Amino acid sequence: MRDLQHVAIIMDGNGRWAKERGLNRLRGHYAGVESLIEIVRTSSDLGIKYLTVYAFSTENWKRPLEEISGLFKLLISFVARELENLVQNNVKVGILGERSVLPEDVNRSIDKALESTKNCTGLSFNIALNYGGRAEILRAAKKFAAQCAQGEADAENFSENDFSKLMYTADIPDPDLIIRTGGERRLSNFLTWQSAYSELYVTDIYWPDFSPE
Ligand code: IPE
Ligand code: IPE
Ligand code: MG
Repeated sequence: MRDLQHVAIIMDGNGRWAKERGLNRLRGHYAGVESLIEIVRTSSDLGIKYLTVYAFSTENWKRPLEEISGLFKLLISFVARELENLVQNNVKVGILGERSVLPEDVNRSIDKALESTKNCTGLSFNIALNYGGRAEILRAAKKFAAQCAQGEADAENFSENDFSKLMYTADIPDPDLIIRTGGERRLSNFLTWQSAYSELYVTDIYWPDFSPE
């Protein structure tokens, strides 16, 4: 394994975790937040420079409205509860994804997290929210087309590195390792461009049971 600079995680299995216990799916997401808090802390302690977690995909809009709004509420309460700890631990929060269509209270909470942690220099903790790899690539292609139209970019001399700079991850190296919990052996539209050379690790463990160990 190469040096671990950037670890990315597909936090999957919350629903099945809840189902096995006869609980509502949302209870699985609540339990998943506890795992997330532990993993952020551990990543920071281990000196990992970048941690990216998949919190809500562009496909997740197909879920029942109740689950979607529950997930957003959970994000808001996560920020309210953890922001002080994040700042104390020098963790810088980032968001990957299309924010314009997110509910206003979610965006307010995100703005607060970004603003409060903007000068932090430790772990860079990125939350992929309303994120889709294909949407990200398409967005970059549109930006590039606009730059060409303005005469600001030159298609002939445009490199992979230049294109990377048009992604949400412009300032973030590609993930060295992608972990998926919950056993599904697919990427589900996560970091499509950036995962070209990432090591993949799939575990059957559901996200709420995933621990630093
Ligand atoms: C992943 O858990 C969390 C999100 C997609 C937000 P799931 O909700 O997909 O859980 P399973 O896959 O149904 O068990
Ligand atoms: C991937 O999990 C997305 C997140 C963890 C946010 P899903 O449960 O949504 O993925 P699929 O639907 O099984 O591919
Ligand atoms: Mg799932």
